[in-house]
Amino acid sequence: MGAKIIDGKAFAAKLTARLAEVVQGLDTSITPPALAVVLVGEDAASEVYVRNKIRTTEACGMKSIEHRLPATTNQEELLDLITRLNNDDGVDGILVQLPLPPQIDADAVINAINPEKDVDGFHVVNVGRLGAGLPSLVPCTPFGSLMLLKDTLGDLSGLNAVIIGRSNIVGKPMAQLLLAENCTTTIAHSRSKDLPAIARSADIVVAAVGRPQMVKGDWVKPGAVVIDVGINRINTNNGKTRLVGDVDFDAIAPHAAAITPVPGGVGPMTIACLLRNTLLAASRRRHFDLPADFA
Ligand code: GUN
Repeated sequence: MGAKIIDGKAFAAKLTARLAEVVQGLDTSITPPALAVVLVGEDAASEVYVRNKIRTTEACGMKSIEHRLPATTNQEELLDLITRLNNDDGVDGILVQLPLPPQIDADAVINAINPEKDVDGFHVVNVGRLGAGLPSLVPCTPFGSLMLLKDTLGDLSGLNAVIIGRSNIVGKPMAQLLLAENCTTTIAHSRSKDLPAIARSADIVVAAVGRPQMVKGDWVKPGAVVIDVGINRINTNNGKTRLVGDVDFDAIAPHAAAITPVPGGVGPMTIACLLRNTLLAASRRRHFDLPADFA
């Protein structure tokens, strides 16, 4: 019996189709939700992510507003743009693609975004609200991962969840979400003692470390569910490259209950959840109602 392969691509396609339906069904007096995407510099991976975000935004019937700034942009110039977007009533969501060039303080930029338009959920107000169990905009990758887990397992109450990685973007918010689902939640990281033993105690393993295939077959107990957040490009023997996650998929798939593939697992969920957040931000800011499945 091999693991069920969790098809994030299909799940995300269903979610974006539903988003498109909801946007299409909005009252004609409501202009489509609008997402401003800010890209500073020419990081190759960021270019791909931003292109996909813009394409999917438009496919959902939402408006995308692209701002490309040169790699030499200074902090003041970027903060000026954020102020303009905060004050622009036609903008519902603001996303500043990370990483930013070294001359810019990313925390200062993120925390300059109006929290109501912070569709990444990275602003300290949204971080605090998530921790306090208050309504917030939730970071997209952890929220997408949680949707896949709930779809696979149903009720997560009482399960042991181990998150490997403690980033602000994935590890920490993932822990908050799993705690809120009544999981016994552990954040492990590169300095944790006996990481394999900690991982082996888990019913749910979320790997978000950014190291190719770090989680080995014997780190995962039989019947566990594995969410692989990593996207790493590695060289293969034939001189080509391929994408792999943070877990050794081939070694884990034979005995796990379910596992996300890379690509086609968590990645597509991130964009779908970004658009969900954009719709939520628009409805809260402009005071229109959404169907119950988006409340
Ligand atoms: N860079 C890598 N992941 C993300 C993300 O989720 N949001 C933003 N803004 N930048 C990223």
